[in-house]
Amino acid sequence: MQLDRILQSQGFGSRKECRGLVRHGFVRIGGEEMDDPFVELDPQGLEFEVDGELWQYREVAYLMLHKPGGYEVSHKPKHHPSVFSLLPTPLRERGVQAVGRLDEDTTGMLILTEDGQLIHQLSSPKRAIPKVYQVTLKHPATPELVSALLAGVELHDEPAPVVAAGCEIIEECLLRLTITGGKYHQVKRMIGAAGNRVEALHRNAIGRLELPTDLAPGKWRWLSDTDLAALRCDEA
Ligand code: URA
Repeated sequence: MQLDRILQSQGFGSRKECRGLVRHGFVRIGGEEMDDPFVELDPQGLEFEVDGELWQYREVAYLMLHKPGGYEVSHKPKHHPSVFSLLPTPLRERGVQAVGRLDEDTTGMLILTEDGQLIHQLSSPKRAIPKVYQVTLKHPATPELVSALLAGVELHDEPAPVVAAGCEIIEECLLRLTITGGKYHQVKRMIGAAGNRVEALHRNAIGRLELPTDLAPGKWRWLSDTDLAALRCDEA
């Protein structure tokens, strides 16, 4: 693939802009400044620098963001900054989309990708991919609360009771709740319907993929093939 096309595919602008980057000496490969935007390269595994920053060619972008509180999962945020503002420009330009939404005040794991099929798989009720939340409650958790969530609670506009796939009391006011759906405000509504209230919400895991403890709020990282298999709950 031609260098200008490679750069364009990775979000560095139009082909013309990418040719400009090369011609102005902003692009290096293996430490060497490139001067020919039309040079043919094998993109698989290619590492390149743009303006001193190292990138690896990714045919499709898959990443995880540790969403901080105070950010909206929207390209057109209304009251708070967008989570997309936490990504470098080339990733925003590539048009990565969030897999499902987290509320502005919810923190934790957010998956972003250009892969529409993955977005569908992770959101599809048929696949029932578990999403694990740490829920800080206003009132102490009781065995009755846990039983009610596991048995299913009635939510306005939902024809059938909505059931938690897992629920454990971690501390007096802390639950580990697993759900498989992705309904609007699902956790907050379930907890409300069971007679308590969410004070803080944090997503720890999707599928078998956990939010790494060394990924600070506001930071992102690429997903490996192993991460993707864990996310989709593929058979080992
Ligand atoms: N459930 C909620 O209520 N809010 C979220 O952000 C995620 C799940």
